[in-house]
Amino acid sequence: MSSSTVMPMSLSAACAELGRRAAQALSDKFPSHAAIPTELSLLPASKPEFGDLQVNSCLQLAKPLGQKPRDLAQLVLSSIIDHPVVAKAEIAGPGYVNVFLTDGFLAHCLGQIARDPHHGVEQLHAGKCVVVDYSSPNIAKPMHIGHIRSTIIGDALRRVFAAVGYRVIADNHLGDWGTQFGKLIVAYRLWLDEAAFARDPIGELVRLYQKFVTDEKQQADSLKLQRPAQASDDEDDDDVGAQVTPLLAAARAELAKLQQGDEENLRLWKRFVTVSLAEFDKTYARLGVTFDTVYGESHYHPRLASLVEELLQKGIAEQSRGAVVCNVDGAPAPLLIRKADGSFLYGTTDLATIEQRMRDYQPERVLYVVGIPQQLHFQQVFFVARKMGCDCSLEHISFGSMRFKDKDGNYATGSTRKGNVPLLDEFLDMATEHAAAAAKQKNAELSEAELAEVARVVGIGAIKYNDLSRDRSQDINFDIEKALSLEGNTAPYMQYAYARLRSIARKAATEGMATADAVTISEPAERRLVRRLLDFSAAVETVARTARPHHLCEYLFDLAGVVSNFYNEVPVLKAEPTARASRLWLLAQVAQTLRHGLSLLGIAVPERM
Ligand code: ARG
Repeated sequence: MSSSTVMPMSLSAACAELGRRAAQALSDKFPSHAAIPTELSLLPASKPEFGDLQVNSCLQLAKPLGQKPRDLAQLVLSSIIDHPVVAKAEIAGPGYVNVFLTDGFLAHCLGQIARDPHHGVEQLHAGKCVVVDYSSPNIAKPMHIGHIRSTIIGDALRRVFAAVGYRVIADNHLGDWGTQFGKLIVAYRLWLDEAAFARDPIGELVRLYQKFVTDEKQQADSLKLQRPAQASDDEDDDDVGAQVTPLLAAARAELAKLQQGDEENLRLWKRFVTVSLAEFDKTYARLGVTFDTVYGESHYHPRLASLVEELLQKGIAEQSRGAVVCNVDGAPAPLLIRKADGSFLYGTTDLATIEQRMRDYQPERVLYVVGIPQQLHFQQVFFVARKMGCDCSLEHISFGSMRFKDKDGNYATGSTRKGNVPLLDEFLDMATEHAAAAAKQKNAELSEAELAEVARVVGIGAIKYNDLSRDRSQDINFDIEKALSLEGNTAPYMQYAYARLRSIARKAATEGMATADAVTISEPAERRLVRRLLDFSAAVETVARTARPHHLCEYLFDLAGVVSNFYNEVPVLKAEPTARASRLWLLAQVAQTLRHGLSLLGIAVPERM
């Protein structure tokens, strides 16, 4: 057996080394057999009884090598048993190898993590770029609850991607261009209430837009105009020849002027954008969310006409009843990129956006954090983008909707238009107020300032965690009491776990108790905690791979549970000084991991609560 071994730096380095040794042992026995990889995988054991790591490749290799799995397992076992990080190894079941690591090695790994500026998270993606497109609300409309999931999930992904080494471009693809601006310009000139606009600009723009829609409908009714029902308020029907109301005709004329660069209309549009962004920025500040770029749809407008022509020339797009479409294999409908009236669409802009992102960043991945209803849109856009030569991974990071209790206490997916869904800001106010009331009840010693800070951190944290802790594909029934509960997989539970750790550390410091600079494992409870801490890197990497932040929540929730059991299993402040010093250091690592893990989800922690 090779005696060269230096202590591996980390758990994953040890896994790799053991995996290579095991593979080597098999190749020595079955020279140059194609089925044998250069490294066998050592996976985390599914139960503590099975050790720390498990090799299950022998089961798969048995057939190609014409051997019994347990015989292969024996070879694997002999190859790793005397490695210095291995305390013992055993063959189990039909041919698994269970590996138990030495306490000393686990303690050593935790020491490495404690000193690592990346908290032990491997920089596996260094040098690669990922674009995350999230939040992306629409101008002149409030940012409602429909955008909260995108903002929260996107922000968490941004942080996690940066943590695994990616260069991240966070882009807020604002909906700042579209047919609604013609209507808005007309309504603004006719009916603006200056005072209301100064007080609540977005509210006034929404009122103006709605007034346009109702008044226009009344005009149509009184003129007895026949027309097909419109698919949505934002889309003019394509029926260019049909009779239109004076209001709609005016809106179309203003839109055309805007698109041709009319100065007065551009000035108004700019105003809508500015006031809307100012409102959105207040919300982003509350949430602690930032972006690297905010190009918005309008930025791509100058490119759309030539892009459509190029796609026609390349045969990627074709004419269809006056419009231009791109056929998409396997999709129920083609992607419409130019209407019969010459205007461009949401999808046209998305194609121009991909083109620019590829040119500017050469990203490995581009993620769109947008709800499930836009699935078809992205299926179409990605298909066309690939035909255009985009070879990066385009991913629709879709998520379910959020349901709220209606008057009868039943959960329903409402709509802002119907008014049964709170606006984002109201939602945050509600959570913060609830958190303030709860904090006051729980800890009467908090000063007013501390109370306000705890309420903010806990309220916002609860909203975010409630969203992030569920697999994003699911719909969420939003229950404020549950989100703010101190029990269960909630932000307050995690934040409390952190605050409790900090309170122990403060107490130790005030009483002059020493803290060690490493852990000495002498009890199973200590080992369990160390072992769990070492899984942090893997949890972060899983989130980066799957773009599903709930995996990190699950890990942190489990860690909080392990530490809570730890208090029942061994004394800390009352332990004898050597054990106490070691445990204080261990608990500091837990606090550090909870804080850092929550920060990767965009969630802060209070020092006391
Ligand atoms: N503004 C759109 C909406 O609110 C979302 C944009 C998402 N990003 C994109 N590149 N299409 O529905």
